[in-house]
Amino acid sequence: MSNIGSYGERLNDFDWSLSEQELDYNKGDVINIGWYCTDRNCEQGLAEKTAFIWENAAGDERTYTFDDMRVLTNTIASYLKELGLEPGDRICLFLDRVPELYLSFLGILKMGGIAQPLFSAFGDESLHQRLGPAGTSAIFTQRKHVAKIRKIRDSLPDLKHIIVVDGDPEKLREREVIFDLDSTPRVEEFDVHPSTAETPSVLHYTSGTTGQPKGALHVHYSLISQYLSARWVLDLQPDDIYWCNADPGWVTGTSYGIIGPWANGITQAVLDSGFQTERWYKFIEKHRITVWYSAPTAIRLLMREGLDTVSKFDLSSLRHLCSVGEPLNAEAVHWSMEAYGLAFHDTYWQTETGSMVITNYPGMPIKAGSMGKPFPGIEATILDPDTFEPLNETGSVGVIGLKPGWPSMFRTYWNNQEVYDSKFINGWYVCGDRASIDADGYYWFQGRDDDTINTGGHLVGPFEIESALLEHDSVAESAAIGKPDEVNMEVVKAFVALKPGFEAGPDLELEIMNFVRKRLSPLAMPQEIEFVDSLPKTRSGKIMRRLLRAQEWGEPIGDISSLEND
Ligand code: WTA
Repeated sequence: MSNIGSYGERLNDFDWSLSEQELDYNKGDVINIGWYCTDRNCEQGLAEKTAFIWENAAGDERTYTFDDMRVLTNTIASYLKELGLEPGDRICLFLDRVPELYLSFLGILKMGGIAQPLFSAFGDESLHQRLGPAGTSAIFTQRKHVAKIRKIRDSLPDLKHIIVVDGDPEKLREREVIFDLDSTPRVEEFDVHPSTAETPSVLHYTSGTTGQPKGALHVHYSLISQYLSARWVLDLQPDDIYWCNADPGWVTGTSYGIIGPWANGITQAVLDSGFQTERWYKFIEKHRITVWYSAPTAIRLLMREGLDTVSKFDLSSLRHLCSVGEPLNAEAVHWSMEAYGLAFHDTYWQTETGSMVITNYPGMPIKAGSMGKPFPGIEATILDPDTFEPLNETGSVGVIGLKPGWPSMFRTYWNNQEVYDSKFINGWYVCGDRASIDADGYYWFQGRDDDTINTGGHLVGPFEIESALLEHDSVAESAAIGKPDEVNMEVVKAFVALKPGFEAGPDLELEIMNFVRKRLSPLAMPQEIEFVDSLPKTRSGKIMRRLLRAQEWGEPIGDISSLEND
């Protein structure tokens, strides 16, 4: 049972100053996330405590104390300054889950840079769409990913430094440097950048329905939300060994795979390897993981393997389980109770919210299938999708609205204030998801309110996929939608009309799939391509994804009066 009181108790008279007090923060003070996650823990007597246990697929293991973290992040911060990088510069992390990813993230924050993490499986086009508009100055990467950067760097004039953490001196090209953390002299003391609450910290790109991905900009004050929600919802306690499955290319992997837990002085374990049931269980058994933050797609894969596999491992260290990213179906909650004797606690939030906003709080009765209730300090409601006024009616489905003002809320979309402003209506931040509230105040997710595709917990924008498809010689027009999938909830399906002279068939389908995979990422690759003569369009020429999606899901098609060829 949780040691932090009931949901009701916490809700009463809640004020974010509670988190500020725990972090010894007063308004106007310097607040630097990099310092909080490392130096402050040392000052609190945790210098020799293990902060970070890292393991890769081959079974190599490393551990770092909080003092190691302090010194190594100093070393990276000071290296970046020597390179000529300045506070406010966007510095990208394009790395697998190697130790340098975690340490550089904090090192960047310590020197005042804006950390821009990107998923290392992204192809050159995805990378270009995120580095170009952000005017990124430097990128940390590995030898195995450098070719993708070489392809696009000529059109990235701002990108001055390509920092290869395992580089080969013989093979360096223009603008490339090697940064080998192991052999770099340690920097004991570093003047941490005196960032204040509104100093930018992290730039996370996220996909929406229209246009290219948008960069949600966060600030150092986000710590106030991330610290407290990690402590209360993940129920982190001093002796915990915590494991977050998410890659820091996505917001879960930074807010709760770096910032929240380390600001709490917790030991984190990281597994740099893809999903594999037995390897995951072995990891939990070996490191005696106590708190585990995972995602529905992973849970469904574990369910597939069944209880027999569970029984081969000693998972008795597990104490608390949470999930995020997609709807957590009731069946998965029941299964986890059977498999681990613990229920997965669903949490709902977004890149833009920076921290959990609707959660199943420990100690609160779980209603399997519900996302829970708003976190203390978060005022949420369900808005009428047409008027954007609160519905205030039990069970009515509308769009989720949040009252702006919690500490970790994004501050803008990078160079896209207009789209940022459009997210606020009638004084509410509109999340883009549909849900309802039951008589007990629990939220029930109903679906996205736009065409964004959620595959295995990762948002993919249809526009990005369609743009990539159009670059293929054979494609005249295309539409991308999510189609139902047992494990990933949705996978990408593309409808393609070919140019004259091209013949539809399995060879071309495969070629186009691979084309998208290489340019964007394995997540964005269509799992199926349906060749069509033409696509349904509105009179104004917009492709009606909604219609294609409804057909795919067997849902009512709705109003199609604006369809061009009706
Ligand atoms: C979806 C991930 C249902 C939702 C932290 C949201 C969820 C989008 C849940 C944000 C949940 C996240 N139940 N859907 N518990 N959590 N989502 O920005 O559509 O990568 O808007 O942030 O994921 O995805 P993002």
